[in-house]
Amino acid sequence: MYNSKIVGVGRYVPKRVVTNFDLEKMMDTSDTWIRERTGIVERHFADVENGETTSFMGAEAAKQALKMAGMQAGDIDFIVFATLSPEYFFPGSGCAIQVHLGIPGIGALDIRNQCTGFIYALSTADQFIKTGMYKNILVVGAEVQSTGIDLSTAGRDVAVLFGDGAGAVVLTATEEKDKGVIASRLHADGNFMDSLAVENPGSGTRPFVNKEMIDNRSIYPKMNGRYVFKHAVTRFPEVILETLAAAGHSLNEVDLVIPHQANERITEAVQMRLELPREKVFRNIHKYGNTTAASIPIALSEAVEQGLVKDGSLVCFAAFGSGFTWGASLVRW
Ligand code: COA
Repeated sequence: MYNSKIVGVGRYVPKRVVTNFDLEKMMDTSDTWIRERTGIVERHFADVENGETTSFMGAEAAKQALKMAGMQAGDIDFIVFATLSPEYFFPGSGCAIQVHLGIPGIGALDIRNQCTGFIYALSTADQFIKTGMYKNILVVGAEVQSTGIDLSTAGRDVAVLFGDGAGAVVLTATEEKDKGVIASRLHADGNFMDSLAVENPGSGTRPFVNKEMIDNRSIYPKMNGRYVFKHAVTRFPEVILETLAAAGHSLNEVDLVIPHQANERITEAVQMRLELPREKVFRNIHKYGNTTAASIPIALSEAVEQGLVKDGSLVCFAAFGSGFTWGASLVRW
């Protein structure tokens, strides 16, 4: 059995910065409301009209990750791409990214697990490496949320939370013990699927898309914010502790927790419940908002750059989101 070691990490965010004050001009909201309830100050919106798509951003993040790994795109054997916002309904962005990277022919898998997408993607890639099927896997989390949210007052409860961006890691097989992905735990409970969802377009209606869906705004995300919050603050600590127990490690051995950046208040609550010092829980939501599947690899890329993750560090990724889905991975750097 091999272990999957992260040998490269990269990120890409669009140039266009959208501050809370910019949102005030689009809808009835305020910088104070957004900051106090979420910790978000600004986010980035992609220029999709000029090609800044989900797969393009994923590819830019991947190029950085490959550079850090000292690899060429051609060294990659398989792609796992996590996103809830692929540029096409089908095929997935895992296929689309091959065009940007010039690596057609290898297998490509899209993961649709929303905010937990990166954890599912990392764990899936890890299984392929553990069994010896692939040696080098590119794992990407990328999102264009800005084209799918309702930027009018009617959609403000959701719209102010999300941003666009991409992060990527390169995993490689190693025979070193206690290196790379040590354990992952994945969960989902579809009983809660309507608590955070985009209902249309989908295959459950005929025709697939119609004007009524636009008029009744069912093409936009709907969320029971308080309900999501309540579940998130329970599930995050629970799955972190479950994953640590599975790996035979304790919380005080962890050097850094990198939670999915959903909301500063959720992160704060998780930190308090786990009784962790503030500096052991990474945050960057103020700059990017919630970038869903991209948030953990973007955060990891910054944490590595800031020297918070270095050789030997024990790092725990954790996420919660639509589905509901939740999960965690423990990684020895
Ligand atoms: N700007 C200004 N006012 C807003 C607003 C916005 N963007 N969005 C909602 N409001 C209003 C509401 O209409 C409501 O007004 P009312 O009291 O007159 O009815 C008021 O603010 C309070 O709304 P409420 O939904 O009760 O706020 P809250 O304290 O629960 O905070 C969230 C809302 C979304 C910030 C909070 O529920 C949350 O963080 N939930 C988790 C969301 C999340 O992380 N989702 C992604 C998970 S991966």
